[in-house]
Amino acid sequence: MSKDRSAIRHLAIIMDGNGRWAERRGLPRTEGHRAGAETVLEAAEGARELGIEYLTLYAFSTENWKRSPLEVNALMNLLAEFLDAKLPRMLEKGVRLRAIGRIDGLPAKVRNKLRAVIAATAAGTGGTLTLALNYGGRAEIADAARRIASDVKAGKITPGAVDEKLFGRYLYDPELPDPDLLIRTSGEMRISNFLLWELAYSELYVTDVLWPDFDREEMRRAAAAFGKRERRFGGRPGAATENNATQPTKGV
Ligand code: FPP
Repeated sequence: MSKDRSAIRHLAIIMDGNGRWAERRGLPRTEGHRAGAETVLEAAEGARELGIEYLTLYAFSTENWKRSPLEVNALMNLLAEFLDAKLPRMLEKGVRLRAIGRIDGLPAKVRNKLRAVIAATAAGTGGTLTLALNYGGRAEIADAARRIASDVKAGKITPGAVDEKLFGRYLYDPELPDPDLLIRTSGEMRISNFLLWELAYSELYVTDVLWPDFDREEMRRAAAAFGKRERRFGGRPGAATENNATQPTKGV
């Protein structure tokens, strides 16, 4: 049987607008990030209420290192604090934490706490929360290509075996299904190097609401809008099958 195409199994979010949220209140930008961090578990629990199994959040991009050292430092401290402070609630709610990105490039303090929380929550059955950290979509594709090249060189696979399915197994977390819906908060109409491979057929939803204000009601609104979309996966209206979902033909 084909899967229910009107359900959101995987929701991805570009959490934007923390800085503007703070500026509108006359606060430093870092206070916006602090407020945004408080929204993260609310979103995970809200997603779960809607039956969403996977929530992936863009928490720090490979480009975010270009921000001021003060802001980068504040974000790394916030992450470390978040991991310490929210572990009990994650365990209580059964949230399983994962991470994608160049994790080795994060400060040791964050990396170690991250690994510890991932291990502590690994048996959770209340939904998977994936943080994209030091993440870039192009970096992910380049990293996959490098590992494929090295496996070809080692004779583990042949060049002819490299297709979309095999490539997907070399992404940061091959278990993650492609997102059904991408939400971007705070109004910008950009993908900003997020999940470039995985978003190929995702529905897009942009709201003007700033990330710290994104609550369960906003998430329900986005899910309702998704419910009205007709997903074609490149095929003809009404003719979507499991097959043409992974092998797009013509059209967008
Ligand atoms: C974009 O807002 C947001 C970020 C660059 C980082 C997102 C980080 C958090 C929500 C907090 C820490 C995360 C966790 C998981 C604890 P912006 O600063 O670009 O906002 P602006 O466009 O209004 O300036």
